[in-house]
Amino acid sequence: MAFNDLFIRTARLQPTEATPVWMMRQAGRYMSEYREIRANHTFLEMCYDPDLAVEITLQPVDLIGVDAAILFSDILVLFPGMGLDLEFQTGIGPVINNPIRSLADAKALRFGDPDRDTPYVMESIRIARHELRDKVPLIGFSGAPFTLASYAIEGRGTREFINCKSFMWNEPEGWDVLMSKFTQSIIDYMCAQIDAGAQTIQLFDSWVGFLSPRDYEQRVLPYSKQVLDAVVSYGKGKADDGGDVPVIHFANGATSMIDLVQQAGGNIVGLDWRLDMKRAVNLIDSRFGIQGNIDPISLFASEEEIKAKVVDILEAVGKRPGHIFNLGHGIQKTTDPDKARHFIKTVQEESRRIRS
Ligand code: CP3
Repeated sequence: MAFNDLFIRTARLQPTEATPVWMMRQAGRYMSEYREIRANHTFLEMCYDPDLAVEITLQPVDLIGVDAAILFSDILVLFPGMGLDLEFQTGIGPVINNPIRSLADAKALRFGDPDRDTPYVMESIRIARHELRDKVPLIGFSGAPFTLASYAIEGRGTREFINCKSFMWNEPEGWDVLMSKFTQSIIDYMCAQIDAGAQTIQLFDSWVGFLSPRDYEQRVLPYSKQVLDAVVSYGKGKADDGGDVPVIHFANGATSMIDLVQQAGGNIVGLDWRLDMKRAVNLIDSRFGIQGNIDPISLFASEEEIKAKVVDILEAVGKRPGHIFNLGHGIQKTTDPDKARHFIKTVQEESRRIRS
């Protein structure tokens, strides 16, 4: 099979004959092939073992037909090396047993070091690139400073962010120490992924949608901007073909402050499903690509309904360069893989028609 570079050309904002498509959380529990491996391993074992991580990375490429692979890993794998005691508990999700609650805790945290802490991630990227040589490009990723800080402070998932916001407001020095440590550690981690062969990088800011625009602008955006500027500039000319490594910024739940999200930088703005694509195309500056944005629950609708929703989004974008189709957030674990395949195929066929 010839290498399918549609995703990379699109991410570099070149005009293309079709729209590439992948799905956040595409390697995961909705696939029986994933669950079979998971039955014999803990989640973290699977992240730490490059052979397993690569096998899972390839599953949606070979079995669902997506146009890009994303490394199987987690945003929280940075934590153990920095001194945060991370566990995944069944029924709860990620738990940090020694959360950050004071300035002293923030000061005691170590900077992440990719060579020391996450060599298995870089090894997985190198092996995945080899396995994907006749297939599709590989996306690397990291959590953004706010999303990582919120887990470090709360110690587990939350919908309220009471500890996190209290710390942000009441301990401004501790907040700056913590956010700055994550910022530098994330930059080093993402640059190491580029060196290992990641062809595009996505920054996940999954929880900024819980912030007011003012708090985002004053206490979060400057750190995200530092990460995005540093990684965009590091990735210039770093791809195998001498081209740039594009950077996607996914700020979930943040479409009501999409102006601020653009100020943070990057090359491609990732959208959740809460913003209509027609409006997005007007609101997002033409120097950015756009990634998104069908509601992930749409995959529970009929095939006809899925097609209508896909065509709606494709027509709203028209022939604007730089559109990467994706779900507005991660695929749900009870999704029927046949529906996922239908969705992918529909984007591929309908976008060829609309862009021709
Ligand atoms: O997209 C992909 O397929 C790549 C792999 C990937 C995973 N997590 C695999 C995973 C990526 C990019 C992530 C990112 C991630 N991890 C985010 C940001 C993305 C987003 O959705 O906005 C967040 C917030 C996390 C933290 C995390 N990891 C949570 C909340 C959970 C779910 C806990 C649960 O049990 O529901 C995880 C675990 C996780 N990460 C799984 C997978 C496939 C499931 C683990 C399992 O098999 O039990």
